[in-house]
Amino acid sequence: MSRIELQGLSRRFGSVTAVNDVWLDVADGEFVVLLGPSGCGKSTLLRMIAGLLPPTGGRLRLAGADITDVPPQQRDLAMVFQSYALYPHLSVARNIGFPLRARRWSRADIRAKVAEVAATLDLVELLDRKPRELSGGQRQRVALGRALVRDPGAFLMDEPLSNLDAKLRASTRAEISALHRRLGATMVYVTHDQVEAMTMATRIALLDGGKLEQVGTPAEVYDEPASVFVARFLGSPAMNLLDVNVRAEGGALTARATDVELGLGIDGEMPEREVVLGVRPEHLRPAGLAEPGIRAAVTAVENLGSEEVALCEAAARSICVRGPRPLGLRPGDRVNLTTRPEHLHLFDPGSGRRLAWRPAPVAAGV
Ligand SMILES: Nc1ncnc2c1ncn2[C@@H]1O[C@H](COP(=O)(O)OP(=O)(O)O)[C@@H](O)[C@H]1O
Ligand SMILES: [Mg+2]
Repeated sequence: MSRIELQGLSRRFGSVTAVNDVWLDVADGEFVVLLGPSGCGKSTLLRMIAGLLPPTGGRLRLAGADITDVPPQQRDLAMVFQSYALYPHLSVARNIGFPLRARRWSRADIRAKVAEVAATLDLVELLDRKPRELSGGQRQRVALGRALVRDPGAFLMDEPLSNLDAKLRASTRAEISALHRRLGATMVYVTHDQVEAMTMATRIALLDGGKLEQVGTPAEVYDEPASVFVARFLGSPAMNLLDVNVRAEGGALTARATDVELGLGIDGEMPEREVVLGVRPEHLRPAGLAEPGIRAAVTAVENLGSEEVALCEAAARSICVRGPRPLGLRPGDRVNLTTRPEHLHLFDPGSGRRLAWRPAPVAAGV
């Protein structure tokens, strides 16, 4: 059992509040990704879980026990950093076995355990090498092995893939996911990379300015972002956001702005109000000029191979459309972009929080 409970964790550095009252319950066996822009407090939060940094507020529990004041080496946790921090003069085998020597295991037991971990991580052939004789990806696997060898209750990882090139990042990502499935261990993983978060996490915890913005499965945070911040942070290109006025027209709610007219698919009466309307690039498509939609001019088209992205301008706002290639749009075209009401996201312009009124999603595609 390695449930990790963050109960109102905070950390101040002088006048800077790096982590602000974070409540998060990580269940045994979960893979939680702490995601957010640089400086949002991810590493500070992870270092507090590891015991490397005392919190200035809140409590921390591991497997039900309060560990807020327990020193790091007595926490049943292993941490893997971005820089591998391997001992350059020691072989791979000795690097992996290091935590066990520190715990005074016998040589035979260490050899057996190292062999087991090396087999898991495909490092058997490399056990006699020195770190300088390894590629970046292999070094990262050795660092993982050194964490794994202790059989910790939970793994903490801080941007472990950010020193790897794109191709190696993708394969190591898959390896870590497979490792998580195989071990069933609890993992808390820090990254600023939305692709890592979307592909690896069982749940994503999004942080902004030290505060938790939203916690949910990758599908939940992508499909129902709780705020403008989350909507902007996840998705590439980012969600289109438009300032509109919503009012009831003939009993149906309609969003309007210059060059914009979109039905929300909601019947009702309400006083007119301002709303931030969001729609993802993959949910927009060109339609006949007579239909309600967003009237825009195409300024550029980017070829992504299997897909195309059209950059458009509507009343001085940029709007992005993404779809299978060819989209059939060319720079200079005048287009009318429509979507289905269930793809519209509504946010409060003041707080940036999601507004709940939205029609139930319909199955099928765009
Ligand atoms: N030791 C420290 N002393 C002072 N400020 C710090 C220290 N560590 C982190 N901070 C500040 O706390 C905030 C969060 O930092 P950090 O947790 O490293 O962010 P992230 O890992 O999300 O990039 C930043 O504003 C950073 O400057
Ligand atoms: Mg960091």
